[in-house]
Amino acid sequence: MEKLNRGYNGNRPKPPVKWAGGKGQLISQFEPLFPKQNFSLYIEPFVGGGAVFFHLLPSEAVIIDNNPELINFYIVVRDELQALLADLEKHQNNEEYYYSIRALDPDKMDPVCRASRFLYLNKTGYNGLWRVNKKGKHNVPFGRYKNPRIVDKENLQLVSRVLQHTEIILGDFSKALDFALPGAFVYLDPPYHPLSETANFTSYTSDSFGVDDQRRLAEAFKEFDERGCKVMLSNSDTPFIRELYKGYDIRVVYARRAINCCAEKRGPISELVIRNYC
Ligand SMILES: C[S@@+](CC[C@H](N)C(=O)[O-])C[C@H]1O[C@@H](n2cnc3c(N)ncnc32)[C@H](O)[C@@H]1O
Repeated sequence: MEKLNRGYNGNRPKPPVKWAGGKGQLISQFEPLFPKQNFSLYIEPFVGGGAVFFHLLPSEAVIIDNNPELINFYIVVRDELQALLADLEKHQNNEEYYYSIRALDPDKMDPVCRASRFLYLNKTGYNGLWRVNKKGKHNVPFGRYKNPRIVDKENLQLVSRVLQHTEIILGDFSKALDFALPGAFVYLDPPYHPLSETANFTSYTSDSFGVDDQRRLAEAFKEFDERGCKVMLSNSDTPFIRELYKGYDIRVVYARRAINCCAEKRGPISELVIRNYC
């Protein structure tokens, strides 16, 4: 597999933000499932915190997400790192300051201040979640962490370096089809189809990802396949998802369940990895 890890040695970038549904804990189970052959381009249309992207360190990549704060942050880390590092120094870890930053309207901020606000809220907010209400307003309470590492300069420099080779796009996953050429590797990690009606965590942005979106995604998976890409997808282990991807290679991996209030539902949970190759 063509990777950019030449020159990173032991000093590899880590995902710079905490993200719900992050795949960090599953990387060792994914490792044997990634394509064995080189790929010319890596495409990740639901990039979130980018656990797989920062693990593979592809030499050419396209990353997409429909969360405007996240995408602005990645663009600023790639193109305006020094200005971002300088702005991050101003933040304070106290409740009053947190709520004053949370109350700012990101649409009225310049890209650097906006990215700085995003990272600050991600590092100091409760559980590091990024969650918005129906009106799109960030609504995570102050996290009360003693010493959160808001500015990890060394890691942001490594992240910026890998992003230099990366096209960063705000929008729907379907934009990835514009790049779907033979030899590309596409990793799809959508918001999961809920195991039950109440387990529906769909608040990364103010839009939710429903059954019709899952169907639209399955169509896109087929299209990537027909265009000669290697495609790998993560989703929940439900009859609906198994039916949607019938005919493809379906494997089970086990994840720790992170967001659950009921103790008996905290054990490992099976998830699916679906591929168009073996
Ligand atoms: C399960 S998370 C991805 C987590 C990521 N793999 C990681 O390791 O952090 C799903 C992501 O899809 C994004 N998303 C939701 N709907 C989308 C859409 N229609 N098109 C593109 N991205 C979308 C969310 O903002 C979220 O970042």
